[in-house]
Amino acid sequence: MKQLYGVIGNPIGHSLSPHMHNDAFAALGIDAHYHAFAIEEEKLGDAVKGFKAIGLSGFNVTTPHKVNIMQYLDEIDELARQIGAVNTVVNRDGKLIGYNTDGIGYVRSLQSISKEPLHQKRILIIGAGGASRAIFFTLASMGVAAVDIANRTLEKAAELIGSCRYSIQAEALTMQQAQDRHHEYDIIIQTTTLGMYPHVQDTPLQLQQLKEGAIVSDIIYNPRQTALLQAAQQHGAVIQNGIDMFVYQGAMAFEMWTSQWPDVERMKQIVITKLG
Ligand code: ATR
Repeated sequence: MKQLYGVIGNPIGHSLSPHMHNDAFAALGIDAHYHAFAIEEEKLGDAVKGFKAIGLSGFNVTTPHKVNIMQYLDEIDELARQIGAVNTVVNRDGKLIGYNTDGIGYVRSLQSISKEPLHQKRILIIGAGGASRAIFFTLASMGVAAVDIANRTLEKAAELIGSCRYSIQAEALTMQQAQDRHHEYDIIIQTTTLGMYPHVQDTPLQLQQLKEGAIVSDIIYNPRQTALLQAAQQHGAVIQNGIDMFVYQGAMAFEMWTSQWPDVERMKQIVITKLG
């Protein structure tokens, strides 16, 4: 029988996930369908019960449900629990198990462009919201040695670092400190909304000097190249936008559901085509 998967969010109409997953199912000859479900916040519990009743094989979770979903699941993976958010649910013999592939997906995408292992790299994360949390905790869980977090609201960066149970050397920085010290980092990861369409001139850092071989990664994908990435490219950095993170979080969910690794390049092409 055809297996059913999906993504829940609100709004969800513009989600690229159905295109990406349905193409991957077809490419691998898997008899499955992935559907976008718009679920209002107060209907979340009922929706999860319904998914269980009809035997949905798995689903992704996006805004605004990533935190609230946790109370309706049977089990939550340790890293997702630490991050405090779930973006992927697997139905294992009727039990719904929550995972977070945002952070791991991001790190896999970073590894795909980094020539060297991340462990000894000096990393700066800009921003201390949900995406930053997923990325920081995942890096810490992997044993990455040193990651600093800069944020407009310094306390939020300090809180994020303080709530991490994995051992890691980390410092909370003001945006000015990040500005003064950005040349010290091998990898700069931009997770704030600064530079997102339509505010495309905004940037969290005025890049003046980058470390030799630095990678600058921005999780924004609209526009494809934020002002920060444009400046980073002009300074000779290796740059990466948020399309890879999106694709890899999806690929990791796909692997959890099907035990098969999809063609990531093909997924990426679908996303790029759909973004126009
Ligand atoms: P996400 O879940 O995508 O990470 P979020 O949780 O809303 O989004 O976090 C947004 C991040 O962008 C935060 O780090 C926020 O900084 P504050 O903690 O100080 O709010 C940052 N951000 C948003 N607008 C910003 C701005 N105009 N200048 C600097 N940082 C900004």
